Amino acid sequence: MENPIEKFQAWWNQATTNSPLQQKSAVCISTIDENGFPSGRFVDLKSADENGFVFCTYLDSAKGKHIQQNPKVALTVWWDHVGYQVRVIGEAQAISDAEAVEIWQTRKRSAQLITTAFQQSQPLIEQEELQTRILDASEQFAEKEVPKPSTWGGYRIKPVSIEFLTFAESRLHFRELFSWEGNIWIKSLLQP
Ligand SMILES: Cc1cc2nc3c(=O)[nH]c(=O)nc-3n(C[C@H](O)[C@H](O)[C@H](O)COP(=O)(O)O)c2cc1C
Repeated sequence: MENPIEKFQAWWNQATTNSPLQQKSAVCISTIDENGFPSGRFVDLKSADENGFVFCTYLDSAKGKHIQQNPKVALTVWWDHVGYQVRVIGEAQAISDAEAVEIWQTRKRSAQLITTAFQQSQPLIEQEELQTRILDASEQFAEKEVPKPSTWGGYRIKPVSIEFLTFAESRLHFRELFSWEGNIWIKSLLQP
C-alpha cells in the first residue's frame, strides 16, 4: 500500500478488530517542553485521515502550552498483539471550536462531567477534592446538556513523515518510511 494514511487506517482497523486492546485508540503524543525536553503521554486518537491525526485535550494543559510554543510533535503507537509500531512526526494545529463541539457531543455524559470538573495539568492537593467538584458539576448541569468547556479542544497533526515497523522476533523488523515531499509521499525502506 503506497498511501501511508490508508495504511495507517488499515493497521488501526486490524489492531482493533476482535482485539484484546482495552484502549483501542491510545497513542503517545510527544511535545517539546519549555526547556527543550520531549514530553510524552497517551491520548485517544479521534480520527486519522488525509487531513491529519486528531486528538482532543485541554488547550491550556501542559501539552497545549508546549504546542503553542512549538507545534512540532510526534505520535507513536505500538500494537503488541499484531506486532506493529507506527511513528508519525508533524505539526499540530488547533481544530476549530465547531469541530471540538462535535467531538465533545460524542463523549459520554459522565466523561463530560468529569472533564468539566478539573483543570488539566494543574497541581492537586488531594484526589478527594475532585469528587466534590464532580458533584458540583452534576448539580450545576442536572437535566441539562454539559457544555464543552471553552478551553477544551483538539489538535490535528499534519504529518511530514510516517514510519511503519512490522516487528520480528528475530529482530529483522521490516521498516517502511513515508516522507511528505510537499505534494507527494515518497516511500523508502530502513534497516531495522
Ligand atoms: C489510554 C489513555 C488515554 C488518554 N486519553 C486522553 C485524551 O484523549 N486527552 C487528554 O487530554 N488526556 C488523555 N489521557 C491523559 C494524558 O495521558 C495526560 O495525563 C493528560 O492529558 C495531561 O497531560 P499533560 O499534562 O502533558 O498536558 C489519557 C491517558 C491514557 C493512559
